[in-house]
Amino acid sequence: MKRLASIQPHGRHAFRACRVQAALGALLLVGLNGVGPSANAQTSTGVDSLAPVAMGRALYRGELPWRQPPTLHGVTLAAGAQACAACHGAQGQARTEAGVAIPSVQWQRLSQATDVRPAYADTAQLLRALEEGRASDGRPLSAPMPRFAFTEDERRALIAYLQVLGTDADPVPGVDAKRIVLGSVLPLSGPQAATGERIRQALLQRMAQVNAAGGVFGRQLELVAVDAGPDPASASEAAVGLVHSHRVFALVASLLPEPDAKLLAALARHDTAMVATLGVPVSTPAREPLVTWLLPSLATQVAALASEMAHACPSATRQRTERIRVYYQSESAARSLRAALDARAGLPHLDWQAAPDAVAVRRKLQDPDAGTQAIALLPASLADVARQAMSEVEGVHCLGTLAAISGEASAAGRTHELVALPMPPVVRESAADAPLWPLLADSALAAVAEALARAGRQLDTARFVAALDTLHGFAPRPGLALGFSARQRHGFDVSYLWKEGSDEARPSPRR
Ligand code: HEC
Repeated sequence: MKRLASIQPHGRHAFRACRVQAALGALLLVGLNGVGPSANAQTSTGVDSLAPVAMGRALYRGELPWRQPPTLHGVTLAAGAQACAACHGAQGQARTEAGVAIPSVQWQRLSQATDVRPAYADTAQLLRALEEGRASDGRPLSAPMPRFAFTEDERRALIAYLQVLGTDADPVPGVDAKRIVLGSVLPLSGPQAATGERIRQALLQRMAQVNAAGGVFGRQLELVAVDAGPDPASASEAAVGLVHSHRVFALVASLLPEPDAKLLAALARHDTAMVATLGVPVSTPAREPLVTWLLPSLATQVAALASEMAHACPSATRQRTERIRVYYQSESAARSLRAALDARAGLPHLDWQAAPDAVAVRRKLQDPDAGTQAIALLPASLADVARQAMSEVEGVHCLGTLAAISGEASAAGRTHELVALPMPPVVRESAADAPLWPLLADSALAAVAEALARAGRQLDTARFVAALDTLHGFAPRPGLALGFSARQRHGFDVSYLWKEGSDEARPSPRR
């Protein structure tokens, strides 16, 4: 796991700030260091003894391997390309993949004539297409449509499944006429067990509200919560197990570190979304359409902070083109953050400086070439050293920090300080009276319920993910508007606290 800074929530600030800081410290622990130690991770159940339609679906999607792998011109296809879904998509709809037109394989389409072929008259004709590569008019099907050598069971299962593919009767995991089952991976044992349990309760409570109001298209929401186990690897394994189990439609509000390659592969293979995930990832690549977060990534927070400082810092008005020095503690953690930020256009120039300890922080910040603007990605104790060091040099200086890393700043002295919060300011206010995580979990589930409603009665992952992207401006609670869109993979925008005597947080100006 990447480690940017160690978090030590400390107890000398005002009660409210302290509470938020502790909660935000936990955010980072989850985002960067994994969930806390605990025992017994859940493992997967396989795809055994399935009814024909379920078996056909598993074969179609590559969840169950073919007894004999398909070939193309006599050559065995690569493992990742053997499933029908790899080319024809989870819904079997017509599409273009890498410039190749791929026809629909939904039963209703196959049993109708098209411009290029007559209707497939019966399953024998259809099987001829799959096993011998001949279309309904006898024409040889061209590459990359492979040739299959099915067993009798596979033949029966696949034909049974093709008849329901893309229809209401297609068994979407976790969804039936009466229920939508959602999964969540939470720390349910170990030091963070109490947090995990509070999140679970918040999810259940919001589900009960939705269900009492009739559910979603008459379907009741149900929760399957599994323990994340002691570390990021066990958390990922628990998530993979849940996806493989086919018990859940989507993973929601999981308190997870960034998904590893294994989890991403499982999500893609089973066409399962992991949405409104809690925790703070280093970055949220747009090319992972199945994964969204409730809070903005560290990269998004630093980018927003740097842009805001370029406008808001008093020193900025005199030296607009000034670069901003970014101080970080650990090289390995900063590397991925830096890579994510380098990929963003239009940011002020960031000059990255390692400052592993108090001596280095002091020396670097008092360097005459340090400039007047700095971002400290440092744990609270080192951030305090930075504040002190900055206030000792001549001139007007401006420091930017992330509450998720340094906590909320104490009095800033002569230094102006802009603190980035990974959520609207109203969350911070509410966190004075209620624990932060349940509040975030509640927002996550409210967003998911709304997306399920907008996805419509015929629910599948593609419709659900598309519906989630329409939640731009949807507010689960007053003042808590979400910003999900096809481009934005996180729900909440960054807001700021300006430390200059005033303690007002204001929302991020959209630009
Ligand atoms: C590696 C990619 C790939 C895989 C895997 C694949 N197909 Fe195809 N399939 C194609 C392409 C491309 C065509 C179009 C070929 C043509 O029109 O000449 C096609 C055509 C078809 C057709 C003919 C449709 C028509 O309108 O005539 C059927 C039926 C079909 N595929 C079903 C399946 C099924 C079922 C599976 C899994 C058992 C499967 N395909 C696996 C790429 C693939």
